[in-house]
Amino acid sequence: MNTEINQFDIEIDRTNTDSLKWEKYAGSDILPLWVADMDFKASDAIIKALHEKVEFGIFGYTNVPEELKSTLQQRLLHFYNWETKKDWQVWMPGMVPGLNIACRAYAEEGDDVITGIPVYPPFLLAPGNFNQNILKVPLIEKNNVWKYDLEAMRSMVTPRTKIFELCNPHNPVGRVFSKQELQDLADFCMEEDLVICSDEIHCELVLDKNKKHIPTATLSPEIESRTVTMMAPSKTFNIPGFGCSLAIISNPKLRNQFKKALAGIVPDAAALGYYAALAAYKDSEVWRQELLEYLRNNRDYLLREFENIPGIKMFPVESTYLGWLDVSELNLENPDKFFEDAGVGLSDGRPFGMTGYMRINFGCPKSTLVEAVRRIRKALVV
Ligand SMILES: Cc1ncc(COP(=O)(O)O)c(C=O)c1O
Repeated sequence: MNTEINQFDIEIDRTNTDSLKWEKYAGSDILPLWVADMDFKASDAIIKALHEKVEFGIFGYTNVPEELKSTLQQRLLHFYNWETKKDWQVWMPGMVPGLNIACRAYAEEGDDVITGIPVYPPFLLAPGNFNQNILKVPLIEKNNVWKYDLEAMRSMVTPRTKIFELCNPHNPVGRVFSKQELQDLADFCMEEDLVICSDEIHCELVLDKNKKHIPTATLSPEIESRTVTMMAPSKTFNIPGFGCSLAIISNPKLRNQFKKALAGIVPDAAALGYYAALAAYKDSEVWRQELLEYLRNNRDYLLREFENIPGIKMFPVESTYLGWLDVSELNLENPDKFFEDAGVGLSDGRPFGMTGYMRINFGCPKSTLVEAVRRIRKALVV
């Protein structure tokens, strides 16, 4: 009998640790299953690397370590057969700044930025920060599969549309888009001469064994040259508190525009973030594989449970640790309040651009999910 404890089963008390996720419900009995960080310890390799740097004790301004750049470069080649150059990498303290910088760099005031909804809320907010308009095109859902609606995108795009914000793998609908789907989207961007801002932060969290992440930029050299790819180790390796992300931009013109828009406003990533990222990319593959197995199990558990809870439908999750729930049948005026009253803190679909939906974060010990399901069931099944 295997008596070894699964590291991801360990419940770690995160209360009173200034955790954004846990502080929201401090002092109340609400399980926080909202913002996208996981209740798991980082890999031993990451913790060891950070210890070493802390022991050194001098925390000066730090260049992006060459080893980090080359490790990422090798990773892109190994996982995606993507040949990149180190100087295509623009490191930043976050992808949200990256999304904003892309708007600032590639569109003028009054221009349009197009995306699909639902989507990670900063996609919808970034253009407005520069007095640009966001064109929100609802994704279509058919037989449980969400897709970008190209026909609607064609009808909504304007001569002033400059950027297409793509989320792949998709937060919140969990899709890993196929090569053909990406090709069709990229063709649309070529026809309309749009910069493709491709957020691929969840690319190393593909749960379905028969799905593979394809970076948009790998479709063809032409597509690569109009694509700004954004990646980060933060979601996969659970180190978002370190603020260490990057854009990969092959086209020198787009790269220079991006760097110019960033200059003097966005600081470098923090030194410890670089070392956490390096240990993540270089020495944490076993941890990642174990995580994926654990997340698959959590996802399958939730899918099974929600099948038997009336009024809630959960969609398949090909990637991410986030489940998208259709709760429209419940006709709730305040869905977030309803679930909080039941003792579970979910993300409301409205900031993602859709009412009647909620997002659940299953990056936590299974015991937490079991309790969350018990509470939801109690609130709904009389
Ligand atoms: C699709 C997507 N992009 C970006 C981010 C945030 O990235 P960062 O923490 O690097 O700003 C998230 C966080 O959940 C996300 O889901």
